[in-house]
Amino acid sequence: MSMGSFYNWVLTLLCLWVWSQSQIGPKPNWVLGSEFEFDPSSVGREFLEIARNPEFFNWLKKVRRRIHEYPELAFEEYNTSELIRSELDLLGIEYTWPFANTGIVGSIGSGSQPWFGLRADMDALPIQEMVEWGNKSKNNGKMHACGHDVHVAMLLGAAKLLQQKRDYLKGTIKLIFQPAEEGHAGAYSMIQEGAVDNVQAIFGLHVSPYAPTGSTGSRPGPVLAGSGRFLAEIHGEGEKKDPIYAASTTILALQQLISRETDPLEARVVSVTMIDGSQLADEIPRSVKFGGTFRSTTSEGLFDLQRRIEEVIVLQAAVHRCTAAVDFMEERGRRYPPTVNDQHMYEHVKGIGTKLLGESYMLISPFVMAAEDFGFYSQRIPAAFFNVGIANKTLSSDKALHSPYFFVDEDVLPIGAALHAAVAMSYLNGNAMVSSQ
Ligand SMILES: *[C@@H]1O[C@H](CO)[C@@H](O)[C@H](O)[C@H]1NC(C)=O
Ligand SMILES: *[C@@H]1O[C@H](CO)[C@@H](O)[C@H](O)[C@H]1NC(C)=O
Ligand SMILES: *[C@@H]1O[C@H](CO)[C@@H](O)[C@H](O)[C@H]1NC(C)=O
Ligand SMILES: [Zn+2]
Ligand SMILES: [Zn+2]
Repeated sequence: MSMGSFYNWVLTLLCLWVWSQSQIGPKPNWVLGSEFEFDPSSVGREFLEIARNPEFFNWLKKVRRRIHEYPELAFEEYNTSELIRSELDLLGIEYTWPFANTGIVGSIGSGSQPWFGLRADMDALPIQEMVEWGNKSKNNGKMHACGHDVHVAMLLGAAKLLQQKRDYLKGTIKLIFQPAEEGHAGAYSMIQEGAVDNVQAIFGLHVSPYAPTGSTGSRPGPVLAGSGRFLAEIHGEGEKKDPIYAASTTILALQQLISRETDPLEARVVSVTMIDGSQLADEIPRSVKFGGTFRSTTSEGLFDLQRRIEEVIVLQAAVHRCTAAVDFMEERGRRYPPTVNDQHMYEHVKGIGTKLLGESYMLISPFVMAAEDFGFYSQRIPAAFFNVGIANKTLSSDKALHSPYFFVDEDVLPIGAALHAAVAMSYLNGNAMVSSQ
């Protein structure tokens, strides 16, 4: 090489360096020798292609099946938490733990704002699995019958996809693995312990046996009900005080909260699901316990129902000269607020989902009276909660959530991983561009 061409070469490099410093947006390809250029319309499909390649897909299935074989109940997700941490270690992703006993918050990206949250729940149900297959639950009486094993695997899949693109993230993605979704408000504990402090928006996915594999969906505004539980005890000690009779009229009176006090265009539910009297057929018991659930599409509706349930029980018991106490189990069974989609977040995810899966696989889901502790996040920061379909009749993966026959079409794994990753990455890009102007 002559000196002349050497100087030209240096000059060219210098010019390129100056030019690269003047660029905003994604780093030019040649700087890191990567093929990657951020394009919001294709990033999801690129992620899906990567996640569907056999090695990646097999890893997703292995993780999911391992968790499926060893289901753990609310706040006891020790092995599951350990498995997640060891996978994050292998991926070189930093995390903080424990949150709420077994929860973990992983972190990918620059560490700077904006911070975007992706959430998966980890707990199983006290249900005996009835499906005979190679990776059936090995823990008697416990089963991942709500697909939370799949949620963990999909979020780890997203972590792997995003970690490969970490140098292009315009902010930080928080991977939120939470315990105790099933009735124990794990999300509430995570929030109390700071898991979403400084997180600007959050996204969650739930598998759905009511929608075909390859589809996703949600709806604008409220998606899932708020829900609470109550336990009442009616005492009727002494002559002519019959707590059985008092409980019977009280239970009937509770139904009038729905039939007489609720706007027929607004959905509310009060169901008494348990009565506990005595075992003796020839003696009036001293007390009767009963309890149940109440639901509403709004937080105000839920408060209103709670107030009226207590009034009706106490006053109706008094009619029969009994006394009553009502416990709303604030500590053990905290009320779940409704899950409400933020308009901007909903549109954002819908756009990504449509590009990823096609218009005909982007569904509008009906509102359902089920509740989710994701509602605690949606009450606090802009949030979106979407279904991702697993139904395939050939595989019998169309059995209801919480059924002992619940079964998953694992083709959902790469889809969920890619959807998580694309939603998060493009949120950071969109948001960073807005806030830097
Ligand atoms: C946790 O993992 C250990 C070691 O693999 C296993 O023996 C134990 O049964 C697991 N516990 C649960 C609840 O799955
Ligand atoms: C699942 O089942 C298969 C076949 O029964 C077995 O080889 C495998 O070790 C099991 N566990 C996982 C995590 O795949
Ligand atoms: C359902 O599962 C079967 C068996 O794996 C597969 O051949 C078929 O393509 C699936 N159908 C859809 C719509 O994904
Ligand atoms: Zn569930
Ligand atoms: Zn669930």
